[in-house]
Amino acid sequence: MLNAVIKFLTSTKKLGLIIVDEVDYHCKRYRKEKIIYDLTRLDETAPQGYSNIVGVIFIARDPKWTKNLDEAEISSLGRIQIKFNPYTSKQLKDILMERSKIAFKPGVVSEEVIDFIADVSSTPPINGDARYALDLLLYSGIIAEQRGSQRIKAEHVRLVHSNLCPTITSEDINELPQKLLYLLFAVAKTLKTHQTPYVHFNEIKSTYQIICETNNIKPVRDLYEALDDLAARELITIKGFTKIGISGVTTEALLHYIDDIIRRIEKIIENS
Ligand SMILES: Nc1ncnc2c1ncn2[C@@H]1O[C@H](COP(=O)(O)OP(=O)(O)OP(=O)(O)O)[C@@H](O)[C@H]1O
Ligand SMILES: [Mg+2]
Repeated sequence: MLNAVIKFLTSTKKLGLIIVDEVDYHCKRYRKEKIIYDLTRLDETAPQGYSNIVGVIFIARDPKWTKNLDEAEISSLGRIQIKFNPYTSKQLKDILMERSKIAFKPGVVSEEVIDFIADVSSTPPINGDARYALDLLLYSGIIAEQRGSQRIKAEHVRLVHSNLCPTITSEDINELPQKLLYLLFAVAKTLKTHQTPYVHFNEIKSTYQIICETNNIKPVRDLYEALDDLAARELITIKGFTKIGISGVTTEALLHYIDDIIRRIEKIIENS
């Protein structure tokens, strides 16, 4: 594909800029593909000696993402790094204001409630995660509606906050490919059945097989590899075959949290 892009740009005398998002995930998952090498030496490898690609921007969550690259890749990678700090309370407030204008009728969300959500989401353990703040707003709205309240109150936010967990947000789940969604579902179900912080690979495997059969879907070919993909997305933790779990939650919060994940995934599967 890269060659086709370069051919198009050079033949039409157009310039291009490549932006690779979540590059740390790609490097972890596809270590052998050497995408960094190819993308940083475009002019060297293009047959005509130039590619018309004026730059490549890599976006990573992990600031240490380059540590597993080889020397040739590191050497051709630029040294300019821009660090985006976590959102502050004020910045989260701006985002929440903007989004609540689209989502709610006027008067449903007060500035006071927005401030509260922004404060909760800008301090530990959430540390400025905008997706978490948006989830908090969304679920608080759902609770207010369920309780027949015309407005979102701080108590709705508090209730949701005590039941949500920062490690897996709705956006994470929404963006997951279907086959991984069923697998995450299987991990959550197995953890819920066993009520332990970790479960064995074989236990997940049997839950997963049942889920695939009941939903009439084709299981993934390599289950461990797919679990590894979930781990690379930081949705689960894997410590060998025997210890697979969901990270970042205390044992007592785990059960509640797993219920929540199961409900969210079920909703997506139902609607798909
Ligand atoms: N200015 C904004 N207005 C409206 N929504 C926003 C704004 N900024 C962020 N969001 C919402 O918050 C989500 C997360 O934003 P964030 O900036 O953390 O994404 P990101 O930089 O891609 O994060 P990650 O590193 O986790 O991929 C976005 O997908 C969007 O839904
Ligand atoms: Mg992103």
